[in-house]
Amino acid sequence: SSSGNELSNIRRKPVIIIVVGMAGSGKTTLMHRLVCHTHMKNIRGYVMNLDPAVMTLPYAANIDIRDTVKYKEVMKQFNLGPNGGILTSLNLFATKFDEVISVIERRADQLDYVLVDTPGQIEIFTWSASGAIITEAFASTFPTVVAYVVDTPRSEDPTTFMSNMLYACSILYKTRLPLILTFNKVDVAAHQFALEWMEDFEAFQAAASSDHSYTSTLTQSLSLVLDEFYNNLKSVGVSAVSGAGMEAFFKAVEASAEEYMETY
Ligand code: GTP
Repeated sequence: SSSGNELSNIRRKPVIIIVVGMAGSGKTTLMHRLVCHTHMKNIRGYVMNLDPAVMTLPYAANIDIRDTVKYKEVMKQFNLGPNGGILTSLNLFATKFDEVISVIERRADQLDYVLVDTPGQIEIFTWSASGAIITEAFASTFPTVVAYVVDTPRSEDPTTFMSNMLYACSILYKTRLPLILTFNKVDVAAHQFALEWMEDFEAFQAAASSDHSYTSTLTQSLSLVLDEFYNNLKSVGVSAVSGAGMEAFFKAVEASAEEYMETY
């Protein structure tokens, strides 16, 4: 906690924000927006790219996996396909991650946040040993939170919504870090429906029951499970395109970092 926890080596700053999201959720566009926002508001941030396969980034990364690991060469050298290449590149980078942590530690006094972009194929980060090693390295040194980016317009379908929430739930379960459900693209569809479904599982069940192909007993059981999950997280609506919700996002990050300091 803030009042001097002797057991903890964790410093208060910077807060690490690990940004994950399904392909197409708008993760990269959102990263760009968050970086612009920090520049505009004089928030002191670092940006880290952990996607070895990305060709061009719309923002400048302070730490970039591509500077250390050449994805194309890794593919050739180990005779791998695209996903194997990304995974192996991440593994190679993970072995040097203590150096990355040192770089951040040296700058810690001048940094409020480190924004971390992860590979476009979400499971390469969330379900790999190196993803876990990197997450753990962050979380044992700095307050660390996960921003899970949701494609809001696509989640208006109850079945898709539930799949997405179950995925987020699995990430919470695996990382045990504070999770911010970041409903993106609110310029296209407001996230109000999602808040209502999370608040009131009967409202969600009513929406889901209009889909007759869906097993309603499963829906009902799962929405009870998710009810407990929703109690443990924060949600914000943002638009990477319009810039809506940036203040709310950073407020949620601060609250999550507080929660982190109290819990870990
Ligand atoms: P990577 O997997 O990291 O490549 O990113 P991504 O696939 O998660 O998302 P990307 O940033 O490439 O965006 C996917 C599509 O969604 C693009 O066509 C974006 O222009 C669009 N998009 C992203 N954010 C928003 C938003 O806030 N509003 C709208 N309307 N479109 C968005």
